[in-house]
Amino acid sequence: MGPPIIGVSKNIERAKELIEHVAHTGLNTVITGESGVGKEVIAQNLYQKSPRMGKPFIKINCAALPEGLLESELFGYEKGAFTGAEQKRKGKFQLAHSGVLLLDEIGDMSMPLQAKLLHVLQSGEFAPLGSEKDVKTDTWVIAATNHDLKQDINEGKFREDLYYRLNIIKIQIDPLRDRPEDIPPLIEFYFKEFATQLNRDNVDNLSPVIMDKMINYHWPGNVRELQNVLKRMLVLGNHEQIIDELIGGGMVMPVIADTSSQDSSPSSAPIDSFLDLNGDNAPDLNNFSFKKIKKKAVDRVEREIITYILQKTEWNRSKASKILKISYKTLLYKISDLNIEPPTKSI
Ligand SMILES: Nc1ncnc2c1ncn2[C@@H]1O[C@H](COP(=O)(O)OP(=O)(O)OP(=O)(O)O)[C@@H](O)[C@H]1O
Ligand SMILES: [Mg+2]
Repeated sequence: MGPPIIGVSKNIERAKELIEHVAHTGLNTVITGESGVGKEVIAQNLYQKSPRMGKPFIKINCAALPEGLLESELFGYEKGAFTGAEQKRKGKFQLAHSGVLLLDEIGDMSMPLQAKLLHVLQSGEFAPLGSEKDVKTDTWVIAATNHDLKQDINEGKFREDLYYRLNIIKIQIDPLRDRPEDIPPLIEFYFKEFATQLNRDNVDNLSPVIMDKMINYHWPGNVRELQNVLKRMLVLGNHEQIIDELIGGGMVMPVIADTSSQDSSPSSAPIDSFLDLNGDNAPDLNNFSFKKIKKKAVDRVEREIITYILQKTEWNRSKASKILKISYKTLLYKISDLNIEPPTKSI
């Protein structure tokens, strides 16, 4: 059913470990992460490794349906329960009996429905709409969300009691940009997979330059976006153009604040300033390191862009990390690694 979980990062290794530990327990689990990071794959793998494998795996997207419809989808209804209910219909909880129910986008469920769900989780029973008889259910509920549920609780949008009921095990999947080491194995896996699907047998490998660009791109759509790009590359063939368009289209080019002093702009910085010059003001070609020079240049550009965004957000690092589309942790690391100093407060 689901693909294997590809990845070598600590984050993915940890998720795989958790799956091994949790799959046979049936403990309620919440999988969190941005859109396209692989929450559903994790749920599928939990199911496949569990004793419930072979029983139903039912998924419902709580964000896609209006409240009333979601309720009847979840719990089912009796004939005549409401206008239009021409015959009895089973809900997802019944359909998923003895198997798994994946509640996708649980963060979007309304408060009244959250209360109902909590009741089902506590009692193992529920009544379909229009019925007075409770039905017993034995379903393993796995929830997925791209919300920060803790924050939703603080804002009064998510029930704390439901949170603790659901969140016995938490599996957090990081954005792809924070685990770039997973990009090459994912590319390898899906290049082969899609080549077969699309009937292409002579697939060119990606050149190191393109691979480098793929690793450094920020992938706002995560693995799903990566899959789309690979499919496009397989069909169209012009690898470099595809990734360049992606990078060009996705990047926010800051206007460097001080345009009067030419040498502070990275694009106009003289190349010399990135080189280690010897006494004759010439680079030492015997110890020339393209890698080191490139790092220096990249560091400089990164420092300027991050400083610029930090200034714009008045050093609100959480806001800045969102604009830069890097994780908060990565931003803190970069601030310290690149020696970015907060402005000294004038008293
Ligand atoms: N680690 C991984 N290994 C293999 N395939 C992956 C991995 N992560 C994601 N995928 C694939 O990427 C696609 C998107 O993943 P998935 O649907 O699980 O994301 P999601 O987090 O549920 O996204 P959304 O929030 O949009 O529902 C799927 O085709 C999935 O198989
Ligand atoms: Mg999903």
